[in-house]
This record gives sequence, C-alpha cells and structure tokens, in this order.
Amino acid sequence: MKIRKAVIPCAGLGTRFLPATKAIPKEMMPIIDIPMIQYIVEEAVRAGIQDIVFITGRNKDSIVDHFDYSFEIETMLDRKGNTPLADVSRNIAKLCNIITIRQKNPMGLGHAVLCAEPVIGNEPFAILLGDDLVDSKVPCIGQLIEIAEKNQASVVGVMEVPEKEVTKYGIVGGDRINDRLTHVRTLIEKPSVEEAPSRLAIPGRYVLSASIFDILRRTQPGKGGEIQLTDGLKTLAEREKLLAYEFEGTRYDTGDRIGYIDATIAFALKRPDLSEDVKKLLKKHMANLEGVVT
Ligand code: G1P
Repeated sequence: MKIRKAVIPCAGLGTRFLPATKAIPKEMMPIIDIPMIQYIVEEAVRAGIQDIVFITGRNKDSIVDHFDYSFEIETMLDRKGNTPLADVSRNIAKLCNIITIRQKNPMGLGHAVLCAEPVIGNEPFAILLGDDLVDSKVPCIGQLIEIAEKNQASVVGVMEVPEKEVTKYGIVGGDRINDRLTHVRTLIEKPSVEEAPSRLAIPGRYVLSASIFDILRRTQPGKGGEIQLTDGLKTLAEREKLLAYEFEGTRYDTGDRIGYIDATIAFALKRPDLSEDVKKLLKKHMANLEGVVT
C-alpha cells in the first residue's frame, strides 16, 4: 500500500539547547537560514508525502505558522520588487498539508506517535524525528518507503555506530539478509554496551504498519519512565515482518550542539551563495588555531 502520510513529533522541550529554546521551539532553530523542521518536511515531500502530521505541544505554534503564508512579509517584499524572496516564503506554504495534534502531556516518543492514530487510521505511515538530518541524494525516508513497499513490511532506518555510542539510540538485533538489510528480531532502547544486540542504531526514520498503534496503547513505560517507540517496535517485530535498512546518506545529530555545528558547516559549504566565504572563514580560524597570523 502507498505511504501517503508522515508523522513528525515536535512536542519535545529542547532542554539540550537551553537557553536558545526557552521561548522558541527547538524545531525552529535554523541550520543557516532554514529552520531544522523545514529540512525534515522537505525530505518527506521529496519522498512523495503530501500529508504531514505534527505532534505538537505548548509554545509550538510558530512551527505551524512557518508552513503557512506570511501575508505581511510577502506583500511587503512584492511591493519592494523582491518577488524571488517573497516566493521563497510562499513556496514553504505550498509544500504540503499540515495537520496538527496536541500531545498534552509529554509521555515519550511512543505516546507521541500514538497521538497520530486519529489521522493515520489503518494505513502504513512514515515517522521522521526532527533531531536527525540526513543529507542524501534519494531522501532517506524515500529509501525506506521503497523497501517497505517492495517487501510489504515495516522498516526502520539504521546506521552502524561506534560501540560506545549504542547507549544513545534504539538498537536493533536480527538476521542479516544482505549488505544493507536485516530482519529485525529484537530491539532495545538505549542499551548498555554489554546489552546491545548489535551496533545498528535507529537515527529517527521509520515506516510502520498501523498495528503499532494497538501495540503502543498496551506498551508500559520503559527507559526514563516514558512510553518508548522502540519497546513497541520490539512487539511489532514479534508479530509482523520488521526490516532494518542501512540507508545511504550522511546523518547529522542536530539535537546535539556539536552535531548542530557540524551540520551548519557542512550545509554552508554546499550552498553556492555561501561556500566561498565560508571556506575563507574556516581557513582563517584554522590558521589562528595553528598560531599563524593571517
Ligand atoms: C529517540 C528514540 C531512539 C532513537 C533516537 C534517534 O531518542 O527513542 O530510539 O534512536 O531518538 O535520534 P531521543 O534521542 O529522543 O532520546
């Protein structure tokens, strides 16, 4: 069945980025001049998804405003003859349909996903987490959708991480099918190095069958006292086919300050309007570090 809808959980408090996130949602923090959430929405749209469900919370209204028209800005830019910039703003509103659902109590990622059930219904759907940016030719979620449709199965995107980093992710274990594909038999949320069934980590991209909702309704709080999506997926893997796919692309952990800086530099170097100046800046800073006077 075709994947037509995506869920983007946006209710997190963003404490890792305080004080920046005291009054603005972390999803609105920009990588250069584009809010992180826009990269995520564009990834889903490039994969053919038109209906996007934001699971929001208090103080997140600016996320929804960003994907609407901004009459004042666009009219003002048109009047000044800067139609190209007005179009940049308008085109964001044209990207997709936005549906919002409030997660009134933050009870974990599994609970956030369960909140989407009234909109998703009985169809398979995609989930994209906003703290993970993937730079790839074929959008990461599009790669997973292709595998899901071909195999009529649920799919989680995975990447191999160094042993000491398994504690930061949901980790899968299972039987290798080929270079990139694993039949998932078990999953553990943020295991210790000893517990981890492999080094295959889930960096926030999923295509799931709607059976996950029934499972999440019955899933007890796990790590951190929260209803964990990973725990729900473990039950799903016991009942239905769940595959893990090592996607192609570079992933940035923009929920982390160093990952955020890494993404900012990498994306700036890819921007034709900025790359030359950014290269000069980097050279200047490197020279300063090496004690050379520039
Ligand atoms: C969440 C998930 C985890 C996943 C991670 C990816 O954790 O619970 O399974 O690997 O996102 O970023 P969080 O980083 O929100 O604690």
